[in-house]
Amino acid sequence: MMKPKIVIGNWKMNKNFDEAENLICEIGEKLENYNLETEVVLCPPLVYAELVTDIADQDNAQFYAGVQNVSEYENGAYTGEVSAEMLASMNVAFCIVGHSERRKYFGETNDIVLKKMLRLLANDIVPVMCCGESLDERKSGSHFDVVKKQIEESIYNLTPEQMERTMIAYEPIWAIGTGETATPAQAQEMLAFIRSLIEKKFGTEMAVSTYILYGGSCNAKNALELFSQQDVDGGLIGGASLKADDFIKIIEAGETVCKDN
Ligand code: PGA
Repeated sequence: MMKPKIVIGNWKMNKNFDEAENLICEIGEKLENYNLETEVVLCPPLVYAELVTDIADQDNAQFYAGVQNVSEYENGAYTGEVSAEMLASMNVAFCIVGHSERRKYFGETNDIVLKKMLRLLANDIVPVMCCGESLDERKSGSHFDVVKKQIEESIYNLTPEQMERTMIAYEPIWAIGTGETATPAQAQEMLAFIRSLIEKKFGTEMAVSTYILYGGSCNAKNALELFSQQDVDGGLIGGASLKADDFIKIIEAGETVCKDN
């Protein structure tokens, strides 16, 4: 039996305050019509964390509040940074870590990714750890090695208790924001490989229960086929999460797959 899907919206650096408020409210209101099995997480820019937690905390809310980044440090003299403790104090439930854009533009290494995950876990926030290879790495056939190294240098340092509270998102860099999606078979192949890595380190039960998502040009049209793959537990959605109707269609795809299985 497949577990319920998780659909996470990664807004990246988009939307001003009014636009963000409108989009959160629009998605929130539309989701009130559903009795969802699928778990939905909205990750607007960090500066809108309170906006999204306020609405997510309402009784009838059908989504969780997330953000896209956190400091690797605890608290103190780190100008401009936001700590996991601060996020927890605002009821942020999820945080994306190690997104390829952060690795590329902000020098986030596997070691920093691990530090951020540990800060989040210490504050009861679920880390969504991103991994994935570049186009050159895929073309040269080293994609499995690249992803394995990312997993080994971050995830493998967690205790089983920490792993239980962690999610993984596989996002091939060549598919992010390009309109070029990994084929369902490519997504399935890599997610099954990641699950085998989890199994090797943490055992079968953990491998089965760990949420592993696909991200990269996942949209209203292709979500159903992607989510139907055995090892795809949901999606990390960028561009298509910025329009309420498209995002809802992706959530509906999650519902359809869940009900069919
Ligand atoms: P995309 O982005 O859906 O726009 O390709 C996904 C992501 O980067 O999380």
